[in-house]
Amino acid sequence: MIKKCLFPVAGYGTRFLPATKAMPKEMLPIVNKPLVHYGVEEALDAGLFEIGFVTGRNKRAINDYFDTNYELENEISGSGKEALLSDIRDVIDRGTFSTTRQSEMLGLGHAILTGETLIGDEPFGVVLADDLCFGQEYDGVLSQMVEMYKQFRCTIVAIEEVPADQVEKFGIIAGDMIRDDLYRVTDMVEKPKPEDAPTNLAIIGRYILTPDIFDIIRDTPPGKNGEVQITDALLQQAKKGCVMAYKFKGKRFDCGSIEGFIDATNYCYDHVYKK
Ligand code: UTP
Repeated sequence: MIKKCLFPVAGYGTRFLPATKAMPKEMLPIVNKPLVHYGVEEALDAGLFEIGFVTGRNKRAINDYFDTNYELENEISGSGKEALLSDIRDVIDRGTFSTTRQSEMLGLGHAILTGETLIGDEPFGVVLADDLCFGQEYDGVLSQMVEMYKQFRCTIVAIEEVPADQVEKFGIIAGDMIRDDLYRVTDMVEKPKPEDAPTNLAIIGRYILTPDIFDIIRDTPPGKNGEVQITDALLQQAKKGCVMAYKFKGKRFDCGSIEGFIDATNYCYDHVYKK
């Protein structure tokens, strides 16, 4: 039903400089796989097999990663090392990969609008690969959200509770509670000061968006930090129709920050890699 997933990967990743000076942040490895690999696997597991990247300068490595490397494969073919490529080969077999380019970094909302050419007029997923999510004993977060979409047929954003002193890093929602893990959004604020935050329910980097969002983004002026904020567009969408916020099951790591990246590496080594 939903088959496309957009990966906005055009950001500079300044929090990881100098590592990200000449390589995309999304290619930083968590144990033995780059961050973006985990995000794409999560999308494929949710049935979203048409993968679209919104890239920028210095992002060629992402396209190369999701393509065959004949020289390397030829070199290790028949050796014990061939098995090390089985994960990425499997991902490449299961999906299609397209790219469009955001020529100016005008914000996440603008990056998503840039992806319209890859999406067209259908609902789609969005994954910010630096938010690394594990469903643990549950399905992946995007799979859980697809189930929500089947019920409500409207935009779904993933949320989690954050400590009050962290709200300034996120888009924060307020809404009418439908069930323990589900809110119908009535308000959204991008990176509020703790005293201005309506709740501590933070939007994380997983979305299912209905395609009317593109027209709404087109009409959204630059907001916080002079960037076109997806949060501002989502608030308009919530006012016009319906946006649901879903408290997902599982664990999330902010791999755009050093601390989150280290925590994710330790978790992944113990709970994913060794299994
Ligand atoms: P971030 O706020 O994490 O920015 O963007 P960043 O540049 O990646 O990292 P820092 O803060 O400088 O360290 C959130 C997501 O939106 C994408 C980024 O690639 C990231 O996945 N993004 C942001 C774009 O694709 N284009 C933009 O203009 C802005």
